[in-house]
Amino acid sequence: NWTMHDFIETQKKLIKEKVKDDKVLLGLSGGVDSSVVAALLHEAIGDQLIAMFIDHGLLRKGEAESVMETFGKNMNINLVKIDAKDRFLSKLEGVSDPEKKRKIIGNEFVYTFDEEVKKLTEGEEIKWLAQGTLYTDVIESGTNSAQTIKSHHNVKGLPEDMQFQLIEPLNTLFKDEVRALGEELGLPSEMVWRQPFPGPGLGIRILGDITEEKLKIVQDSDAILREEIAKARLEKDIWQYFTALTNMRSVGVMGDQRTYDYAVAIRAVTSIDGMTADWARVPFDVLARVSDRIVNEVDHVNRVLFDITSKPPGTIEFE
Ligand code: XMP
Repeated sequence: NWTMHDFIETQKKLIKEKVKDDKVLLGLSGGVDSSVVAALLHEAIGDQLIAMFIDHGLLRKGEAESVMETFGKNMNINLVKIDAKDRFLSKLEGVSDPEKKRKIIGNEFVYTFDEEVKKLTEGEEIKWLAQGTLYTDVIESGTNSAQTIKSHHNVKGLPEDMQFQLIEPLNTLFKDEVRALGEELGLPSEMVWRQPFPGPGLGIRILGDITEEKLKIVQDSDAILREEIAKARLEKDIWQYFTALTNMRSVGVMGDQRTYDYAVAIRAVTSIDGMTADWARVPFDVLARVSDRIVNEVDHVNRVLFDITSKPPGTIEFE
């Protein structure tokens, strides 16, 4: 792809001229945008890039490991991983209101980032911060949405007192261009084609309060769904697919035992931009396999539901 090749060369030159020998910090989430920025900056300035990956414990199964493997092991990027699961789970204990959960996760993210950056910069000053801001983010932040349905947060939120100069190499690109750039930079295609994942992570896919047990249920059931969708080669046909743990328990029968356990919901939607969505017509045989496997392989689940609500009136996520 010649255009992208050109873009990479120009950006590398611009970035080098700008930062010279300085260090650059990047908050790496494992999402497409920050991953592409990481790969681009690594090509441009190598070891001057310091990527910080905060694991809030609300990621999908295997996700933290895959970020560490791709960027730490395979690409050899200077990568600092912060294990913040306990910190997040203790702040979230007993909280079941969706907006409260979002706020706690968003705030805790900023506090953690702030604290860890302070530790990191005790020895040396870092004056540059790289961000995966896209062209659409630039446009959106210029307008004022009249009504906020959910308080969206993502890792682009910054502590207000932080004095960084920003590097935003993707701010002229649209999402599809960012994906093309990621491919040109040699990122694994699972990473480049990753489905959108909300900043608050599984925190908003566990309805009601969050516990370790519920986290495991949603991680394990979601991993089964992803495996079966991949086997059926449906990944690229569905915009987003995931499981959510409802707050509902119901009666079932396992062997000759009565059970009283959780219901897992499958959500799968087609969409162009996430603003509107239709429920995906996942083939019944795929749903049957997913349901069988979830009930058999995931403890404390005895019922699987399939969400057939479009957006609007539903939203993609459950909270
Ligand atoms: P909803 O549930 O509002 O989601 O229909 C629309 C899209 O946005 C994602 N989403 C979020 N992304 N931070 C994010 O970065 C958030 O707080 C958040 N909430 C929802 C959702 O996954 C879907 O793609």
